[in-house]
This record gives sequence, structure tokens and C-alpha cells, in this order.
Amino acid sequence: MKTVLTDNVKTAAAFVRDGGTVAFPTETVYGLGANVFDEAAVAKIFEAKQRPADNPLIAHVAAVEQIGELATEITENTEKFVERFFPGPLTVVLRKTDRVPSLATAGLGTIGVRMPRGEVARQFLTACGVPVAAPSANLSGRPSPTTWQAVLEDLDGRIDCILRGEPTEIGLESTVVDCTGDVPVLLRAGAVSLDELRAVVPETRVASSGEPEESRSPGLKHRHYTPNAEVRLVSDTVPAADCKDAAWIGTGVDPDSGFALLKVCASVEEYAAAVFEFFRECDRRGIRVIYCQTVAESGIGAALMDRLRRARL
Ligand code: TXA
Ligand code: MG
Repeated sequence: MKTVLTDNVKTAAAFVRDGGTVAFPTETVYGLGANVFDEAAVAKIFEAKQRPADNPLIAHVAAVEQIGELATEITENTEKFVERFFPGPLTVVLRKTDRVPSLATAGLGTIGVRMPRGEVARQFLTACGVPVAAPSANLSGRPSPTTWQAVLEDLDGRIDCILRGEPTEIGLESTVVDCTGDVPVLLRAGAVSLDELRAVVPETRVASSGEPEESRSPGLKHRHYTPNAEVRLVSDTVPAADCKDAAWIGTGVDPDSGFALLKVCASVEEYAAAVFEFFRECDRRGIRVIYCQTVAESGIGAALMDRLRRARL
């Protein structure tokens, strides 16, 4: 299939309304979207990404009113999160309506719902007129795409359209919080931090290692966020002998160069926004080892450390 590149949200949305697949920018990462109510269209997402069928998708909405089409019940806690964080980088997991095909939710009775705040995403979702199921627009197991060029690299010829936009602002995927129980459970760290969630619902907790996390956040058991290179986390300087043919990314102090590729970020936010594209660039250059400087686990730092740890696996 030929993948159409466009800057026009209406052109892109027409593909979704016709049952096709469209990659589009959000404030977190690029998503690969299809009409969530169209089972055949949802199947195309799994096919294009080579995504395991047991990994559920997030439904994206343009307006809060659309949540009612997806979820049977909007709990009090959900209302608080929606009020505070929508539109934005937060996904709430809710009990799904029968309209949502079980293929989209990997057989679960729940669905993740998110309202992106990126302007292009909002215009696109409005033009689609239906909630749009969208995982990150990468081949399964590759780093999430933060530019339309990265989407093209992975999915050219495999999807109907790419809506071109700017590089994404945040660069890491949304925070996922399970809101189906009495106490919200953080399933995936993102730009909305645990502290911010707790400022709204103080009981919010992190999924503990004792519980069957895999059934609660199915995506986390899959291989994720991995470049071809080996990722090593470092808090300190790297011995000069190890720099050759290696890459380094981090904040603050400029390490003694000798690295084949080097990215010094001015802030943790900039580091988070740059890291997935940096991984891809390392792969393009055939770099074997990537040194990633560790950061404090507060704010976006917690999500960044989560992705860096996963990238080592
Ligand atoms: O920022 C984002 O969330 C991006 C953009 C495109 O919106 N999307 C994204 O989707 O990262 P994806 O499919 O790469 O990650 C979705 C995560 C997975 O870890 C998945 O297991 C979890 O959300 N998830 C989705 N539906 C769920 C559900 N019903 N219950 C528990 N976890 C769910
Ligand atoms: Mg993903």
C-alpha cells in the first residue's frame, strides 16, 4: 500500500472515516489511529505494527462528552482526573461499553481513554468524528516515534496516511491510571506524575510488584522501548577507553568527548523529549552501546527512568 503524507487534518481524517489507518502527532508521541468502533480498522493497527494481540489500545477523544461512548461508568475519581488533566498526557482506564470491539482492548472489559492536548491532534480527532484507537506509531518493540520521519522509517507502506506535524513536545508516552476500582492505580509513569495524581486523589497508588501487574497493564510485559544498541545507565563519567564507538545522552556536565555521538540536554524535560529519537539515531549509525545518564525520579524524571530501565531489557 502507498502511504500518503499530508499536513491537512481533513485529508487525514477522511482515511479514518473510511476505515483506514493514520499516524498523527500528539503532545506525547505519534499515534497510529483507526476508528475504535470499526473492528476491521482496528485489526489493521495490530497488523501494521506487528503488535501482539494481547496488548490493548488507548482510545483518543476530541471532547470529554465522547468518553460516554466508550465507558459504561465514569467514577468520581475519574471525573476529578478528567477535570484536572484533560486534555493532556493522562490515560484513564475505565469499564468499556459493548460498542468497543474486544479486539481493541485485547479481550479486557476495560478501555484506556485519553484526550491529547496537541492542537493538531485535537483538530484531527474532531474531524474524525469518532474516538480513535491509537498505540504509539512504531513497529512493535521499537522506540516510540517523536517525529513523522520516525513513523515513516517504521511504517512506510504499512499504513494509509501520516499526518505530518512538529516533533512531539513531551516525547514519552502518557501516564496510565486504572480508575475501575475504589483506589486509582498508576500502571505506567508519564508526564503527569504520581504526586500530581495524588494532589487530586490522595489514595492513588502504584501497582505493587506482588499483584498480577501483567493482567492490569498488559503492555508492560512486552519488550518495549528498545534500540538495537545495548543501553547502559550511568550516574558518573565513563572511562575514556569505553567511549569509542559508543554514544552518551544526559543532562548537565559535558562528559569528556571521544563518544561517537553525544547529546547534552539542558533539562530533564529536554532529555525526555530527545531520548527516543536519540536511540533511533544510534541505530541508524550502528552504534553498539548507549550510555544514558540517570536522573532524579521526580516529575518527568520518574517516567524517563522507567523508559531507560525498560530499554536495557
Ligand atoms: O501517550 C500515549 O499514550 C501514546 C499516544 C499515541 O497517545 N499511546 C501509547 O499507546 O503509548 P501504547 O499502545 O503504545 O501504550 C498503551 C499502554 C500499554 O502499556 C497498554 O498495556 C496500556 O496502555 N493499556 C491500554 N489499555 C489498557 C487497559 N484496558 N488496561 C490496562 N492497561 C491498558
Ligand atoms: Mg507503544
